[in-house]
Amino acid sequence: MRKIQVVLASGAAAVLLGAVVMLAGCSSPGRKAEDASVPEYVLTYAENQAEDYPTTQGAYRFAELVKEKTGGKIEILVNAGGTLGDEKLVIEQMQFGGVDFARVSVSPLSGFVPKLNVLQMPYLYTGADHMWKVLEGEIGDDFLDSFDGSGLVALSWYDAGARSFYNPVKPIRRPEDLKGMRIRVQESEMMVRMIELLGGTAVPTPYDEVYSALQTGKIDGAENNWPSYESANHYEVAKYFTVDEHTRVPELQIVSEATWKKLTPEYQQIIRECAQESARYERKLWKERSEDSARKVQNAGCEVTTLTPQEKQQFQEAVTPIYSEFCGDYVDIIDEIVAAGRE
Ligand code: GCU
Repeated sequence: MRKIQVVLASGAAAVLLGAVVMLAGCSSPGRKAEDASVPEYVLTYAENQAEDYPTTQGAYRFAELVKEKTGGKIEILVNAGGTLGDEKLVIEQMQFGGVDFARVSVSPLSGFVPKLNVLQMPYLYTGADHMWKVLEGEIGDDFLDSFDGSGLVALSWYDAGARSFYNPVKPIRRPEDLKGMRIRVQESEMMVRMIELLGGTAVPTPYDEVYSALQTGKIDGAENNWPSYESANHYEVAKYFTVDEHTRVPELQIVSEATWKKLTPEYQQIIRECAQESARYERKLWKERSEDSARKVQNAGCEVTTLTPQEKQQFQEAVTPIYSEFCGDYVDIIDEIVAAGRE
């Protein structure tokens, strides 16, 4: 019988595939020509966005590249749409190898690797170019190497644009407009504090519950990037979108350390390279989708308010204390990041 090592195949599909491959091996022993296509590892990948979303398309590209470059020895099964659980749950499962790979937002990940808060501080970057200069430079590489002790290994950065506020009731122009409003945030202490400083009440909620929370009035507003606002249909139930771009929260492709340790250095190298290549692809898709999403929601009747630099400044000043509260130990890195934006 042919031996197949199905590492941590927590998804039913992975188990099924392993079983099918084993059966095929039993029924036709010695068919050497087919051996090359039998995976040595069948691994799971969690993604909480829809199939057509840029990050999901990036995941499929990653899986394809890994399969091709390992000659079919590593098969990665992408589970999109949050089928393996919300991001926090997925990260927890990865810590013991229950899920092998994922693409997650830095926000929930900062609960496991607190230093990541640095990269999602409000009004940290002057724009997308500044953020990418940081992530693709030495600072970004140091962060990728900062996962020791987390049970996770970081592979590559994905784009998630800038996040802005939206709600069903009124345009938001000043921090005072958020007063008394219950605003959904990602599961991150820093995001909770940001809303408090702006005068609202933060309601940390998993992504897949935001639509119904808006619809039923459990929350009064939320914040996200253009593609999520559109793809998750939040625009249908919260038509006032304010382009305030309070944060840029990058995404990361990560792998469970338990899985990683089982792979040879050659496989690890291939996986790293494919993750980087898929990230370049995702960024290209991201740019296109952001423009399409913004157009689509406006055609659907959403009312967009773009803040002037002076209006933005009021938000920026209100959240200033968050820097010492969450990044007191990383002032040097913050200074370096800010300096990179001036060069
Ligand atoms: C972005 C990100 C998701 C995340 C979501 C959120 O859309 O891509 O991974 O879950 O923000 O607001 O929770």
